[in-house]
Amino acid sequence: MKVTSLQSLFYAAIFAIVFTAAGRAEERGTAAISKQEIQAKLDYCKTCHGLSGQGYRGYYPMPRLAGQQPKYIENQLRAFIERRRMNPVMFNVAHALSPSMVAALTTYFQDLNPNPLGGGPQDHLALGKTIFEQGLPEANVPACSACHGPDAKGQNEIPRLAGQLFPYTVKELTNWSKERGQNGAKDDTSAIMVPTTHNLTQSQIVAISAYLSYLK
Ligand code: HEC
Ligand code: HEC
Repeated sequence: MKVTSLQSLFYAAIFAIVFTAAGRAEERGTAAISKQEIQAKLDYCKTCHGLSGQGYRGYYPMPRLAGQQPKYIENQLRAFIERRRMNPVMFNVAHALSPSMVAALTTYFQDLNPNPLGGGPQDHLALGKTIFEQGLPEANVPACSACHGPDAKGQNEIPRLAGQLFPYTVKELTNWSKERGQNGAKDDTSAIMVPTTHNLTQSQIVAISAYLSYLK
């Protein structure tokens, strides 16, 4: 009798230890994180991406995250980590984020909607609108709206383009194959954009990027 109850006590203790350890591991991975931890991380993102996630137009353009699709942000953070997408700053930033932190940050940015900073040249906005809505069939450029949506708000892994910073969009469309799809061992959503970026001329890139920079 005595032995059995001791034994069950022993198992109960082991059980408790195993469960607590599992609980702790989960806290670091997917369980709840404190509001203060989330706020501290958001403050950090905002030092570069702007106080309302609206982006920052400096020497090096910081993309707008406000209103961005959560799945797109999540996929890009993974792309930086897996070196599918090359950027030394964001490699280090993304590496330090747990899955539950990523979920909290993406939900926060999705709900922000400040006015676009604008700033693209205004002389070819009509051409930008045509490219966005109809593409350039003679140059094999598809209508951007076909994937990015009629209001350029994006969907799942397809990003919002509305209100994105002019110099950032120009840089992305110009350097696509030098910065994305850089890890041949990994499947990459960026492949979808390769023909489009190759078929656009520099002046068409300027026109479409300017048009997008004013879209709300
Ligand atoms: C030190 C500056 C800095 C900090 C801090 C920073 N970022 Fe970035 N982030 C950048 C730069 C620069 C880029 C543009 C990279 C490029 O040109 O490919 C970028 C790009 C991104 C992108 C890709 C956006 C797009 O439209 O493709 C995401 C997503 C992102 N950052 C999320 C975050 C999150 C979340 C945080 C906070 C945890 C954060 N960043 C903190 C500088 C920073
Ligand atoms: C067939 C679908 C499709 C079409 C058509 C398309 N895109 Fe994309 N676009 C995507 C996907 C998917 C991504 C995300 C790529 C990644 O994961 O790296 C993307 C990403 C982008 C980005 C990067 C945004 C960021 O925040 O870094 C820009 C800029 C862009 N597209 C512009 C355009 C423009 C301009 C057009 C029209 C000329 C266009 N796209 C047409 C699917 C499409």
